[in-house]
Amino acid sequence: MPPWLISLESCPSTNTWAMERWAALAHGAVVWTEQQTAGRGRNGHAWQAPPGVLTASIILHHRSGFLGDAGAIALVAGLAVALACEDLVPGLQVDLKWPNDALVNHRKLAGILCERPDSGVVVVGIGLNIDPRWGDDHRALPVATQATSLAEHGPPPTALAVLTRLRRYLDEGAGLLDRKGLGPLLPGLEARDALFGRVCVVATGDGEIRGIGAGIDAQGRLLLKTGQTVTPIASGHITAW
Ligand code: BTN
Repeated sequence: MPPWLISLESCPSTNTWAMERWAALAHGAVVWTEQQTAGRGRNGHAWQAPPGVLTASIILHHRSGFLGDAGAIALVAGLAVALACEDLVPGLQVDLKWPNDALVNHRKLAGILCERPDSGVVVVGIGLNIDPRWGDDHRALPVATQATSLAEHGPPPTALAVLTRLRRYLDEGAGLLDRKGLGPLLPGLEARDALFGRVCVVATGDGEIRGIGAGIDAQGRLLLKTGQTVTPIASGHITAW
């Protein structure tokens, strides 16, 4: 077992566990469990994962300012998931739905929940469908809300292989963000932008905005085009696309 890995038989939520102990966890520590009993998703939703879904949280500590922008680190996390999965499943193309849902063919492969217990720390929680044993209720879902898994696209990698790459790409991405900002990461994000050219509806704190996805700017904001106007959105939730 690598020294950076904290493996728990079961826990309510790896994010909650890490949020409660962040001061004792080093940069790059990974909290992993086979069984979460109270997993949490974005926007206050519960997150339930059957066996075969990787549930883990990676801790990033501030070095010289790279964690200042919560939006940017969320994008780095999405890109790290995409790169790790593409390395391990030959031919796989992972798309990213801003800010950081990982999709394959419009179906959800992984969800990410970034939380900050302190201004200098981010806990990056990842729920990634490696080879899930779905219940029958999964098959009843409409296609648009269905999930996909790595196992649907090739021999599924081990959780440890995924975590090793995820951790490396997160560290590299966070380091780049620190030294050069989001600019060098934008080509990788743009190449995987699931919203580009699509009509989307985004719920923001100021209400709903509808427009056509027009990329991501150097601050990590989603660009939405309505007529000749391009509106940058710093935070929000895609409700339709
Ligand atoms: C989402 O798509 O809503 C984000 C889901 C994030 C789930 C992961 S599983 C590991 C970590 N622990 C949690 O309680 N949540 C995240």
